[in-house]
Amino acid sequence: AAGRRFLVGGNWKMNGSKASIAELAKAWGAAKVDDNVEVVIGAPALYLDYVRQQLPASFATAAQNSYKVASGAFTGEISPAMIKDVGADWVILGHSERRHIFKEADELIGEKVQHALESGLKVIACVGELLEEREAGDTQKVVDRQMHAIAGHVSDWSRVVIAYEPVWAIGTGKTASPEQAQEVHANIRAWLKTNVSEDVAAATRIIYGGSVKPANCVELSKKEDVDGFLVGGASLKPDFVDIINCTR
Ligand code: G3P
Repeated sequence: AAGRRFLVGGNWKMNGSKASIAELAKAWGAAKVDDNVEVVIGAPALYLDYVRQQLPASFATAAQNSYKVASGAFTGEISPAMIKDVGADWVILGHSERRHIFKEADELIGEKVQHALESGLKVIACVGELLEEREAGDTQKVVDRQMHAIAGHVSDWSRVVIAYEPVWAIGTGKTASPEQAQEVHANIRAWLKTNVSEDVAAATRIIYGGSVKPANCVELSKKEDVDGFLVGGASLKPDFVDIINCTR
């Protein structure tokens, strides 16, 4: 809304193979895609190079994680420099699966955001509360804390997108209602206005993630502060294009 370009991201998580990627790329390449929408596909790092070769040129690609330095003795890690080297422009950082399964703390996520931006990547930075935090009435407190840890490390907001992903809605089939999403998105925008600037608050895309599918994306997309989606399971299917095209 309000002059912000709609962005639809796919987060494949730890899914896919060369064969399934080639098949999806073929289906998407043949589909009619709304070119007003920015599309970013987050693939497993191992496949980024292949995905770049296969996908339509208008689809950008993203890694799902990156470390906070360019190179060195960090077994198993990948750097923003490597991600750029294979033709990806984006990285997803702070996803709830990184936070909760791999125990990434706010401060580490902030450092990763800083280094990714300094390296020239664009960042989808994720925030979101657990079910027990929502039930305790702590949603905004948690999201504000996560925002604070990210914002302290952002030099260039034009290359940052915030993804609000309530953890209870991820992979559960339980989507936040359009009203629930709008409420938190509006609060994140208000946080940016108070803590960063009015211009940044007005221009920054805040996208929603959590069981988005073709059947619920239209209603969610109509909300004033919902500027796109970060889609998990439904981004592994040919009809992901229906989500890309949901604002038509
Ligand atoms: O990053 C996307 C995400 O966590 C949502 O996953 O499968 O509920 O769409 P899903």
